[in-house]
Amino acid sequence: MTTKWKNEGFGMETISVTWILTDGSRRSAEVVTGGNLMQAALDNGIDGIVGQCGGSLACATCHVTVENAPAPLPEIAPDEDDMLDMAEPERVRASRLSCQLIAAPELDGIVLRVP
Ligand code: FES
Repeated sequence: MTTKWKNEGFGMETISVTWILTDGSRRSAEVVTGGNLMQAALDNGIDGIVGQCGGSLACATCHVTVENAPAPLPEIAPDEDDMLDMAEPERVRASRLSCQLIAAPELDGIVLRVP
């Protein structure tokens, strides 16, 4: 008989994150708070998010547009702003670099579009 620990994951708060892929389909995942949303995309095999620089603001391959944020996002820092100018496809008003977005509890339900 196998015993499954009921407390598996205890103390690890998660939020729901949804990505809209380039073909219009949606993928949702429970993401542990505290990490960034580029890594969460990689962990969940989200096509179109590469994260080439590992989150050091040197590639813009983690570009997303924010479709719905349940709470205000942190301001775009100057370094993120500069790198967004290099993003492909070209940045729009809702563009962010997902390596700079932290999975905070108030962002439970956030929806990101892969551009
Ligand atoms: S992963 Fe390179 S800028 Fe975000």
